[in-house]
Amino acid sequence: MTVEATQIAATRIAEAGVEAVGAVATLAELTALETTLLGKKSELSMARRSLGSLEPDQRREAGAAFNATREALGAAIEARRSELAAAEHRASMEAEALDLTRFIGPVNRGHVHPVTATRERLEDIFIGLGFEVAEGPDLETDWFNFGALNIPPHHPARGMHDTFHLDLGGPGDYVLRTHTSPVQIRHMRAVTAERGGPPIYAIMPGRVYRNERTDATHLAALHQLEGLVIDRQITLGHLEGTIDTFIRAYFGSEFETRFRPSYFPFTEPSAEVDMRTAGGDWLEIGGCGMVHPTVLRNGGIDPEIWSGFAFGFGIDRLAKMRHDVPDIREFVANDVRFLSQF
Ligand code: DAH
Repeated sequence: MTVEATQIAATRIAEAGVEAVGAVATLAELTALETTLLGKKSELSMARRSLGSLEPDQRREAGAAFNATREALGAAIEARRSELAAAEHRASMEAEALDLTRFIGPVNRGHVHPVTATRERLEDIFIGLGFEVAEGPDLETDWFNFGALNIPPHHPARGMHDTFHLDLGGPGDYVLRTHTSPVQIRHMRAVTAERGGPPIYAIMPGRVYRNERTDATHLAALHQLEGLVIDRQITLGHLEGTIDTFIRAYFGSEFETRFRPSYFPFTEPSAEVDMRTAGGDWLEIGGCGMVHPTVLRNGGIDPEIWSGFAFGFGIDRLAKMRHDVPDIREFVANDVRFLSQF
């Protein structure tokens, strides 16, 4: 090994090293490269170890060349290190930047289900008329769902309700309520216990169940809005006025209602309610009538003193009409494309 050869090697190592330093893209890569270039096993360290075979003068000269290489590499590494550190700092500042002037469009928070919205709207209308809101259980005894409403066992009116019977208690003891009318009985009793009796102005919304096939106008689990008014000298006129007021409040003043004679065991007389816009088709929206004396008695109320009316409407059906939904099953399909329109 000559001095000249070691000087050439030192220059080559410096040039190749500086080029490699320029090529690394991250601080981590640079740290790894530093070990490769300057560590104990680097080419530079190995070459230095071979200087032992030179004369002292030559060794000094050659050693100076290697020292210069080491210094050049160290300087290149430090320069690259501060460059990369600055770049990484800049990138993280950009990523974490908070622009307080930036406009962010409205966030889609979703909304309540259209049937729930309808129920709330109906509640608001009746609360505005001075009614209170009461609720009862979905799981009912046969007596509350039928017996107390003047529908004894084997009464033909039971055939109108396709009932889900529950495998609970004795045969036929419990049902999924087929209508919200049992809440009338529960509410009359609660009012008698808590306030000593009528007047009662209440609506009772809730889910009801019918063991029947669903189609465009029928659901097996649907929602009803029951109404009950008990006071002195309540007449059919009060009933018609209340329903008419409510239909106009919910659908608009251009809507009208009509009452067709009908039959329900728990009301006498009974009627079915239809509604339409001027000139349109009549659509049935529910039943109503004057509360049967037997029902008042089952609610703990004296029919000699008090009289009242009741009604029951399908909430899903009202929502369907209000929003022109062609198929009532849309309400339970849970397709966001449908729901997001409300
Ligand atoms: N419960 C009846 C049904 O589901 C609807 C009904 C009719 C409710 C007349 C009433 C009423 O309160 O008076 O078919």
